[in-house]
Amino acid sequence: MTLKKLSIIGLIILLSTNGFSQNYEAKVDSIMSLMTLQEKIGQTVMYGGSWDQTGPIVGSDNGKYIREGHMGAMLNAMSVKGTRDLQKVAIEETRLGIPLLFGYDVIHGHRTIFPINLGLSASWDLKMVEESSRIAAEEASAEGIHWTFAPMIDVSREPRWGRISEGAGEDVYLNSEVAKAYVRGFQGEDLSKSNTILACAKHYVAYGAAQAGRDYHTTNMSDGELRNVYLPPFKAAVDAGVETFMSAFNELNGVPTSGNKYTLRDILRGEWDFEGFVVSDYTSINEMVQHGFAKDSIDAARIGMNAGVDMDMMGHIYRKNLKALVEEGKVPEQFINEACKRILLAKYKLGLFDDPYRYIDENRENTTKYKPEFLAKAREIAAASSVLLQNRNETLPLSSTSKSIAFIGPLVKDEYNIIGNWAAKGDRNGKAVSVFEGVSEYLKPKQIQYAKGCEILKDDTSGFDEAISVSKKANEIVLVMGEGHHMSGEAASRTNLRIPGVQTELIKKIREANPNKKITLVLMNGRPINLSEEVNLVDAILEVWFPGTMGGAATADLLFGKVNPSGKLTVTFPRNVGQVPIYYNMKNTGRPIPQSNPKQDYKSNYIDVPNTPLFVFGHGLSYTNFEYSDLKLSSNTFGFTDELSASVTITNSGSFDGHEIVQLYIHDKVGSVTRPVKELKGFQKLFLKKGESKTVTFAISAEDLKFYNTEKEYTVEPGEFEVAIAPSSDFKFKNTITLID
Ligand code: NOJ
Repeated sequence: MTLKKLSIIGLIILLSTNGFSQNYEAKVDSIMSLMTLQEKIGQTVMYGGSWDQTGPIVGSDNGKYIREGHMGAMLNAMSVKGTRDLQKVAIEETRLGIPLLFGYDVIHGHRTIFPINLGLSASWDLKMVEESSRIAAEEASAEGIHWTFAPMIDVSREPRWGRISEGAGEDVYLNSEVAKAYVRGFQGEDLSKSNTILACAKHYVAYGAAQAGRDYHTTNMSDGELRNVYLPPFKAAVDAGVETFMSAFNELNGVPTSGNKYTLRDILRGEWDFEGFVVSDYTSINEMVQHGFAKDSIDAARIGMNAGVDMDMMGHIYRKNLKALVEEGKVPEQFINEACKRILLAKYKLGLFDDPYRYIDENRENTTKYKPEFLAKAREIAAASSVLLQNRNETLPLSSTSKSIAFIGPLVKDEYNIIGNWAAKGDRNGKAVSVFEGVSEYLKPKQIQYAKGCEILKDDTSGFDEAISVSKKANEIVLVMGEGHHMSGEAASRTNLRIPGVQTELIKKIREANPNKKITLVLMNGRPINLSEEVNLVDAILEVWFPGTMGGAATADLLFGKVNPSGKLTVTFPRNVGQVPIYYNMKNTGRPIPQSNPKQDYKSNYIDVPNTPLFVFGHGLSYTNFEYSDLKLSSNTFGFTDELSASVTITNSGSFDGHEIVQLYIHDKVGSVTRPVKELKGFQKLFLKKGESKTVTFAISAEDLKFYNTEKEYTVEPGEFEVAIAPSSDFKFKNTITLID
């Protein structure tokens, strides 16, 4: 070690010992005054470790790049041993000893896996979103991870798009609230604690609007649509203090989002004052060449940095090109300084300059994963995320004294798919509780009949006979079917929204063989599925998504009524793929169909299916009934600074205790820009014992009614607004309030 090097490390330690709340900026500035341009560029570079692969490998020589100061962060590198070895190289073998940042896709759990995010959003339970991401951060940080590439807060109305599984569905308000809860959970109160990690708001922006639902595809939309629908969850994440952003793969109105100065510099930095750093998606800067936006990779590096992407994920493009681009005057050096400073600030906030090994602790690593309390929470959350879509003739709950129940389908005994896509370090081979194991807690072996029947995807029907004969022997039938985990998530778009393979064929055969038996379909899937045929073949449908490590146990809790279902859809289920995009907060058109005659000619309808979906946004049944009565408004008029209250009484009139998700909707009747037919503006989840009534109150103010007009102003216009408090988005407004100028 040279004398020069020793003194630099000494300076860093000296600068770091005064506590975290000290002036980070001054500390970072001092470090930066010692850095060469290439070392600063090094901080903007991220390469991958070999613990996981989440994209194409472009080629790397990690040890060499770290030693040369050419790398500031790594993805897919983890474990105490792995991160210690890498961090040691950064600390001991580089000139300045700047610690590395380790990032990983901790999306819906790290070891203990929670339901996929679309499922979790169906709980409408922000506390659960926060708790699950807190646990994920506990487990991930114990394995050396400092940073998660989550939450994904892309609004999406595209069931064909595989990544709809990673978000909170189609609604703007719900996505925004969920975004804040994730950020709180991952980042906690104090980032310098070793069990908190940086969150990353992704994919900025409009990635969820990919044309025809094909992943990475083009998006085109008006500025109003962008600002009113796709940007708000990202703004909410900034307000919640998210430390990082990820620019997306898609182009937006002709400009790739990883080279989009308007969204990155003008909106994110200019309008929202975001102070954290922006990482590209995986080689998304390079891909501007394929988009036809950059001549070559040198040009792409120039565009990416100039647009405001601070860190290059896996592209090798900043490392190779930025120095020359600065020297040629094509990239202002100030941009490199700003990017480097933001990245170093994040490292400071995490406490890595104080102790680069603070996340590296064998004891924590060994004792933190799959703690009993994490698994208990995962079971509770999986149950709360499931949605009872249909329950004819009170088919559910099942009775544990039933003589014999047949469990049929490729997912009955599954421990592999049940944890869903992007399941981080979740164990697919043995740790997850299958539905079979779950129901075995309730039934004795002699009460259970089982047949697999078919595979998820294959056309082989050779298992049908056995499945039919098993179904005939039982009093009731439960089918556990759906998609494979790989059929949603990244690069997993589908044009067919049906249950795959021969599963529906098997359902038909089982129904034919058992015309009078009650049949329940338990569905695992990562997107809205077209269930038009199945709704007529089975009596009950329980949508459990991919419910996670404790999914089978939670499903059994619901099937046998230990837990009353309470989840509600956060995304519309269409009747068929031709209705897509279909979402509750659409516009009215100039020729809406008349309620009295939906088939009338020259109206905005289809000639083959109704306009309505199969299951609406906000839909979800319970084993009990909730009655809504007595909507009261504190006033029918209000001014710009007033707050109005809307309340309703909810009564549990059935015979089970249960949770109800109560939804507030508003319709701005006339605007300088047309407004959606209804918009979610609030929700509350409440618990009611059977026979109990409670009053739920929502506050409404002019602020809640704002939108972006054609002049890009965030404004509210006086006039009439319809208001309703309802159990789902399927209702007709009856009340009006007026905002007075
Ligand atoms: C590409 C995905 O789009 C992104 O969501 C993910 O965080 C990165 N790969 C890293 O794995």
